[in-house]
Amino acid sequence: MLEQIISIVREAGEIVISARDVWSHTHEKTSAADLVTEYDVAVENFLKEKLLSLVPGSIFFGEEETERADPTQGWAFIVDPIDGTTNFVRGLQQSAISVALAHDGTVEYGVVYDPYKNEMFSARRGGGAFRNGSPIHVSERPIEQGIFGMGTAIYRREYLEPTMRVTEQLFKRSCDFRRLGAAALDLCNVACGRTELFFEYSLCPWDQAAGSLIITEAGGFVCTLEGKPMSLTDRCSVWASNQVNKDVLKELEV
Ligand code: IPD
Ligand code: CA
Ligand code: CA
Repeated sequence: MLEQIISIVREAGEIVISARDVWSHTHEKTSAADLVTEYDVAVENFLKEKLLSLVPGSIFFGEEETERADPTQGWAFIVDPIDGTTNFVRGLQQSAISVALAHDGTVEYGVVYDPYKNEMFSARRGGGAFRNGSPIHVSERPIEQGIFGMGTAIYRREYLEPTMRVTEQLFKRSCDFRRLGAAALDLCNVACGRTELFFEYSLCPWDQAAGSLIITEAGGFVCTLEGKPMSLTDRCSVWASNQVNKDVLKELEV
C-alpha cells in the first residue's frame, strides 16, 4: 500500500514541477494571505481519483474540497495537495504534497513529497520512517545545540502573541530558528534530524497527519501545545520534537 501511495504522489509531483506562470492562476480564498492556485485544485483532483480507486469505499478529506466527510470512519485519505501554497506562488520552491491514510481515526500510512528536491518521506505505522527509501531518525541534539522550526498560524492571527512568546523563549535557548512556510516539510525536517523542534499554534489535519506519523516512526514525539494527541478532524496546535527536547514544552510559558 505504501509503495502504491508513493507512486501516485510522485506522479502528482509532476503537476507541481511543471507549473508555469502561477500568479495568473492564483485566487484569494479569504484574504491576500490565503491563496489557492489552479494547480492546488489539479493536484487534489488527480490524487482524489487515483487514491479513491486504490482503496474503494475510502473517504477523501482534502484541503480544497467543498464538503468533507468524517475522516475517523473507516479508511480515509487526508490530503494537502500543495502545502506551502504561498511559497509555490512565489517560486520559492519550498512546498510539498502531503497524504495520510487513516483507519478508524488512526493514521496508518504517511507520505510527504518535496518535488523540488525529489525527497519522498514516508512511514507505515510500526514500520519506521524513510527518506527516499533510506531509514531516517530524529536527532539527539538538545535545543541548546539545535535549531527549531516554527509556523505563524497565518490563518489564525489571534495566535500572534503566544507564537512570538514561545519563539522568543526557544530562540534564547537555541542556536537559531527557521520559518519555512510548509508545515509538512517542517515536520519531516524534525523527523530526519535537520531540526530539533517544530511548533505552530494552529494547523489543519491535512497539514500534519502524514508528518506526525513520519515523526513518531522516526523516533520523535508529537502532541499539541496543550500536551494532547493530534486531531484528525479539527485545527490544533503542534509540538514536534526529538526525544531529548520532548520535555522542553513543560518548561515554556505557552
Ligand atoms: C500552510 C503552511 C504554513 C503554515 C500554515 C499552513 P498551506 O499550509 O503549512 O507553513 O504556517 O499554518 O496552513 O495553506 O500553504 O497549505
Ligand atoms: Ca497546508
Ligand atoms: Ca495547501
